[in-house]
Amino acid sequence: MSQYAQELRATAQAMVAKGKGILAMDESNGTCNRRFQKLGIPATQEYRQAYRELILTTPGLSDYISGPILYDETIRQTTREGVPFLRVIADAGMIPGIKVDTGAQDLAGHPHEKVTEGLDGLRDRLAEYYQMGARFAKWRAVITINTDIPSQACIEANAHGLARYAALCQEGGLVPIVEPEVLIDGDHSLAQCWHVTDATLHEVFHQLHMQNVALDQMILKPSMVIPGLGCNQPASIEAVAEATISCLLKNVPASVAGVAFLSGGQSTSQAAEHLNAMNLIFGEQCPWPVTFSYARAIQQPALDHWGGEPSRVEAAQQRLRQRAQCNSAASRGEYSSEMEKTLAIA
Ligand code: 13P
Repeated sequence: MSQYAQELRATAQAMVAKGKGILAMDESNGTCNRRFQKLGIPATQEYRQAYRELILTTPGLSDYISGPILYDETIRQTTREGVPFLRVIADAGMIPGIKVDTGAQDLAGHPHEKVTEGLDGLRDRLAEYYQMGARFAKWRAVITINTDIPSQACIEANAHGLARYAALCQEGGLVPIVEPEVLIDGDHSLAQCWHVTDATLHEVFHQLHMQNVALDQMILKPSMVIPGLGCNQPASIEAVAEATISCLLKNVPASVAGVAFLSGGQSTSQAAEHLNAMNLIFGEQCPWPVTFSYARAIQQPALDHWGGEPSRVEAAQQRLRQRAQCNSAASRGEYSSEMEKTLAIA
């Protein structure tokens, strides 16, 4: 058992406290730059700093967000006035987290499949992040659905990496967010997504067990069970909620501290509606809190509005807070599309 067990348990519970979710803002420089370039925002360190300052200084963010997930560049940054971002987070009563994988690379011998890297030197990196003040970490594995894939080899390699990472995190005092993402890209059906998610979660929990990961000291960050973006058979909100919860109930032990979904390319309203339906219809059947750990579904309207323009910071922050508030309501099963109108921003 980790010497940090008690602290890890308390942190994990705080991350998924009632009405709270996690804000993913850990885009690598490459991903952040690509999103900036789409909007004509200069892809520089200066603009990445300004954007992350905009997010972290949003008034009232901590009413809905338990903690942000940062990237290595961001955790070392300060506001323009020189206040460390870690101080801003602590002063708002939030818990800082850090992405520690080094990205998905091609899986040798398996065309079109990826394996996430980053285990080399991870113990030392985790020790530095803990020392800086981070109390949870994130590692994302990606599983692609297409003809004949995913292979069992890909699922096993990724699950093994997630479990080794999670064990190292707990040894070093950080709560691991275990993120196996079944990608929404493709024309697969809801049923195909269910089967791949089932196989993936089964293997992930097998590997977590083998590596002695304490489930009450970790957070699962899964993708929802949803048809691919190119699928011509749309699924209702209720069907997605039902498929997702049935797959989780089959595979996720009750002792897991919490489930916090990624948004994975869903629209902002879909991400809120699906989370809401899961809590409203199935909440009482779930042994774990079910909440959000969204990046795009919280950030996108704010990023679009800001566009790199200092005069739009405040209005962008209102948009960010609105998405956080809607998803917080969804985590309690209290979201409605009416809320979008009430909270509409001029
Ligand atoms: P999205 O919500 O944009 O899918 O991002 C979540 C995340 O953290 C991906 O690793």
